[in-house]
Amino acid sequence: MSAAPAPGPGRIVREAPAKLNLTLAVIRRRADGYHALHSVMVPLKLADTISVSIVEASSPPGDTLALSGLHLPNTGDNLVLRAIAMARAAVAQTWPGAPAVPPPLAAELVKLVPVAAGLGGGSSDAASAVDAALEAWDATLSIERAMAVAAALGSDVPFFLAGGAARISGRGEFVDPLPDLKGRQPAVLLVTPRVALSTREVFQAFSLGARPLRTEAAQEISEQLAADMTAGLRGADLLERAADLASSNDLLAASVSVVPTLLPFRRALARLLALPVGQSGSGPTCWTLYPSLAAARKAARVVEAAVANGSLPEIGHGSPFVAATTILCRRAASASEASERPSAGADSTAGSARGRKHGHLVPNGGHNVVASVGESVEQDGR
Ligand code: C5P
Repeated sequence: MSAAPAPGPGRIVREAPAKLNLTLAVIRRRADGYHALHSVMVPLKLADTISVSIVEASSPPGDTLALSGLHLPNTGDNLVLRAIAMARAAVAQTWPGAPAVPPPLAAELVKLVPVAAGLGGGSSDAASAVDAALEAWDATLSIERAMAVAAALGSDVPFFLAGGAARISGRGEFVDPLPDLKGRQPAVLLVTPRVALSTREVFQAFSLGARPLRTEAAQEISEQLAADMTAGLRGADLLERAADLASSNDLLAASVSVVPTLLPFRRALARLLALPVGQSGSGPTCWTLYPSLAAARKAARVVEAAVANGSLPEIGHGSPFVAATTILCRRAASASEASERPSAGADSTAGSARGRKHGHLVPNGGHNVVASVGESVEQDGR
């Protein structure tokens, strides 16, 4: 495991948390080919760490990205570099030195969240990169512009830029913040088989008919969860509805149609842990909920032992990624802000300050700082 970069002079460090879809309802296919969703998403303490610093004049021009941690296939097309480039273009018009643009950045990414896993790792890195770049340049961007940049980077990026639990709608660009769960935050066991699942392929399979038997069930559960969290749901209450949540991902059948071995894997995991097993996003990450991190860690050891003795089928290329973590609440995130240096990892107690403080994202026209763009701003009557 790689160490998180130290802040150092001029180095901006951000955590980029993974996300969990507690629910994921696919409402319909849109004219633009994307799917309209209703999802309740929460950030996790499991996080990548991203840091950026301004490249000195003597260095070669252009943004650079150094990677460590989990293996990533291709650095050239990493979303972090695209995010920095898009943030630069967005602030260029108001940059004091125009026509000069904000200077190149040297970015470092410590990857701890598996990629193509349904955990939003790449999207979170991109959101953190936008936020860190703005701070490095001491530049500001309205929330609306920042959210538009985020949506252009990917459907999950606006959620991460907003920070915190949220109800997601549209293709992901409408982010309505939800209060943190009250009391102790539930712990989560993540088990990610080593099969990369392309989100595009899974949505395609859904379009071609790989759908749940009972349509609208996931949407009902998702809407109820969002309403209950708005009213003030406790972490313990979430555990009680784990079975409903685990069944409320409309992409389950589509993921299995793309990777059929996921079905026996998930069934074996549910038998092993004697708990409902959910899927995050388009998969393949499986999740189970626990009342404490200690309980999730114990379950992680059970899974690792079952992989070692062959009672849990190995699918894809090697043993699954197994991590015990907890849901990240805003309170924990701002506590880590004070500690200045975030530590990365599944068991980390630190959280991202990004998206919660919004020092470099300024509200426009009196909108709430954590506003979503477009439709839901209107819905809120703002
Ligand atoms: O936006 P992002 O690049 O993450 O999406 C990857 C692919 O997943 C899209 O090209 C699209 O095919 C599919 N998708 C979708 N509906 C969504 C989000 C993603 O169909 N809401």
